[in-house]
Amino acid sequence: MKLKGGLLLAALVVGGMSAAVNAKDLTIGMSIDDLRLERWQKDSSIFTQKAEALGAKVFVQSANGDDSAQISQIENMINRDVDVLVIIPHNGDVLSNVIAEAKRSGIKVLAYDRLINNADLDFYVSFDNEKVGELQAETIVSIKPEGNYFLMGGSPVDNNAKLFRQGQMNILQPLIDKGAIKVIGDQWVDSWLPEKALQIMENALTANKNNIDAVVASNDATAGGAIQALSAQGLSGKVAISGQDADLAAIKRIVEGTQTMTVYKPITKLADKAAEIAVGLAKDEKIESNASLNNGMKEVPSYLLDPIAVVKGNIEKTIIQDGFHSKESIYNK
Ligand code: GAL
Repeated sequence: MKLKGGLLLAALVVGGMSAAVNAKDLTIGMSIDDLRLERWQKDSSIFTQKAEALGAKVFVQSANGDDSAQISQIENMINRDVDVLVIIPHNGDVLSNVIAEAKRSGIKVLAYDRLINNADLDFYVSFDNEKVGELQAETIVSIKPEGNYFLMGGSPVDNNAKLFRQGQMNILQPLIDKGAIKVIGDQWVDSWLPEKALQIMENALTANKNNIDAVVASNDATAGGAIQALSAQGLSGKVAISGQDADLAAIKRIVEGTQTMTVYKPITKLADKAAEIAVGLAKDEKIESNASLNNGMKEVPSYLLDPIAVVKGNIEKTIIQDGFHSKESIYNK
């Protein structure tokens, strides 16, 4: 439990050592990059539910993809004297100073799903994001072991996007080296926005005279934009394309055959785990980690969960069985 400087002494003297940490006092500030993307809506509601069940109060703010908005929202949370900051960064490279300010105020900082570079983080919780990229590429290669591949990266300022690409290349590079696969284009999508993915795909199809066999897209929102461009050329369902997040629209596309696969990351497990970690940090408890990632400043204690590849054949025993989407919402037109 954080108390500033002299306040701590006063509290101990006045309140005596019996001033046990009451979970009701705990406040968490959750700063989210962009609630316009479906999955973050799930993360914030599940996280809030769990944290409140653990007795904490949660303030959630979305920066809608704007770096300076996110920095000022975090400063606002510091001024509100939260005990813990839980941050999904829009840009993992611009938060060093505001996190240093939080640490000076005795606030703990948890990076949620995306690592924050060169910052004094207390903990990082996510999925094994390199594995996400491997699952994407493995599934596409199993359908199209050779041909012209277009690589559509995620946001260039999202550390995860680099990890996905690393995983993808772990699978693709050997096939490129032996000439089975030819990379005919590689673009990254600002803020993961579908409309930008659409433009990129339209340009790629024009530049390659529609001669594209597969698209390695890094999440469902961008895959959706790319598929819009493919269908305008009568190519949707013919070009293999990956995704991630198991968005409802993507699961429907996988059922209809226009998207090959998505990567399902059980958000409930991530958000519940993050809430437990956040409350544990606020209470200065020891937090269990199963990994450690270097963020350019330190080895950050981490907890990484396993992602799951979803294709038409296993929607039932993953997405539906977990209650992530209902059968009706998937199969009703
Ligand atoms: C990534 C996240 C993905 C996807 C993407 C778009 O950082 O790991 O699951 O949601 O952002 O928001």
